[in-house]
Amino acid sequence: MRPTGYEPLHTLKPVTTDVWVVDGGWIRFYGLPFPTRMTVIRLADGGLWVHSPVADRNGVAAAVAGLGPVRHLIAPNWIHYAWIPDWQSQFPEAATWASPGVADRARSRGMSLAVDAVLSDAAPPVWEGQIDQRLADSGQHREVVFFHRASRTLILTDLIENFEPARMPWWARPLLKFGRVCHPDGRMPRDMAATFRRDPEHLKDVVETMIGWQPERVILAHGRWYERDGVVELRRAFRDLL
Ligand SMILES: [Fe+2]
Repeated sequence: MRPTGYEPLHTLKPVTTDVWVVDGGWIRFYGLPFPTRMTVIRLADGGLWVHSPVADRNGVAAAVAGLGPVRHLIAPNWIHYAWIPDWQSQFPEAATWASPGVADRARSRGMSLAVDAVLSDAAPPVWEGQIDQRLADSGQHREVVFFHRASRTLILTDLIENFEPARMPWWARPLLKFGRVCHPDGRMPRDMAATFRRDPEHLKDVVETMIGWQPERVILAHGRWYERDGVVELRRAFRDLL
């Protein structure tokens, strides 16, 4: 398999206290190869919160379990759920929290996905006060964004994508550039942005909430994430709205 540029893959990588990422392999979406990333947060009670899990290869699920009990599996938007069932079978005691739209989308693809609770604008009591959240909903794209207060870490899935062209197949580069999702100016993919145009005030409100959180870092599911200056990156990526 072609390297993603984020090797080692399926390996826990510490970000800061109680925050880790795991870079996963390629996934194809509409024919385009995407490198993937998951985020792990350890909550105050020691339980683990696993965002957009990647495939369980290289013993990564066992490595995650070594950090604490896996309690929450997060499918953060309508198209990020592919490996949730693998993690459910490894951690049957974990609760699965899904963005609106996930269960329907999975069903339409012939996959039965057990969801314990649907995510909304309000953090559930189990992580309220530790992780804030907002639902960005264009009617087509539905994604819940999260902010881990203690580490000032914002976790986005697809609202910003930031592919490094040199790490992508040559033939995909013009498409990514047209899609406005190339490092260092990664933004919301053009087609997704079009779906939010029906109600730009809604997206603006979500972006202003995220800026109000004053994130230091912004972890993304695809491409290079932003280790610092989170607010600057949000203002850059959503400059058309602000
Ligand atoms: Fe994605």
